[in-house]
Amino acid sequence: MAIEKVMVIGAGQMGAGIAQVCAQAGFEVLLNDANPEALEKGMKNIEKLLTRAVEKERISESDKTETLNRLHKSEQLKDVKSCDLAIEAIVENMDVKTKVFGELDTFAPKHAILASNTSSLPITEIAASTERPDQVIGMHFMNPVPVMKLVEIIRGLQTSDETYQAIEDMTNKLSKTPVEVNDAPGFAANRILMPMINEAIYAVHEGVASVEDIDTVMKLGMNHPMGPLTLADFIGLDTCLYIMEVLYEGFGDSKYRPCPLLRKYVKAGWLGKKSGRGFYQY
Ligand code: NAI
Repeated sequence: MAIEKVMVIGAGQMGAGIAQVCAQAGFEVLLNDANPEALEKGMKNIEKLLTRAVEKERISESDKTETLNRLHKSEQLKDVKSCDLAIEAIVENMDVKTKVFGELDTFAPKHAILASNTSSLPITEIAASTERPDQVIGMHFMNPVPVMKLVEIIRGLQTSDETYQAIEDMTNKLSKTPVEVNDAPGFAANRILMPMINEAIYAVHEGVASVEDIDTVMKLGMNHPMGPLTLADFIGLDTCLYIMEVLYEGFGDSKYRPCPLLRKYVKAGWLGKKSGRGFYQY
């Protein structure tokens, strides 16, 4: 099955990025959001990033125009009826996601694949909310999408080999590198990354070193491009806590216990860069 037309649901930081890279790679794209203002903002962000890419001579003016011509707004989920693939990038909440997948399943053509960009929710459970669990898969892009090369492709229990292959081919066409991962809490990326971030927070909590020094240890000592506490602020401390909860609950192992300092910051509304304060001030 050839994928030609894609619907991206959710025009936030991830959805807009996914829509942009799909349109740049030559796919026809419908970008959908339940909130018209968010949709407008997502479209504007894409245009801004493409303009910056032209200024930096990474793409030509005509590349930009052609990309924007392939990108269309959608305000109704039933527009998926003309698409071969839907990629969902809405809020990280199982009830909201399964409701959207139920609707996509109703309106999408029989051959269409339904993918989720979830960073932690079980693909098997999302798939079970549809009548086509063999055609449901995880397509986990990294933030910021236009820059980061990795896509974790997550097989749910019932995902078929044909579905996996179609999504792996699509990922290659986006000039990204796919990795195959089975459905397990945190998949691979967050299972490894989040406990490291959580441990860095424990080190602050226990007075082992300052925030800046812990970031310096990991940057200069391990050659990480960004320290774990800076990275946590960029991801969002609420998101970090949410993923740690998924790992803790999913494995039932105390090694995944979220650090009390992380909980405290989230309760205070210190969510990182997006709220102006996390481990650093913005
Ligand atoms: P965001 O909050 O920036 O964007 C979510 C968008 O979805 C909003 O514009 C909202 O209006 C829209 N939306 C909510 N419910 C909807 C519905 N029923 N129908 C259509 N649109 C709806 O969130 P973000 O950060 O883009 O995350 C989206 C997904 O991507 C989540 O599942 C998250 O776990 C995942 N993810 C996030 C990463 C990150 O670094 N932020 C990295 C990788 C995955």
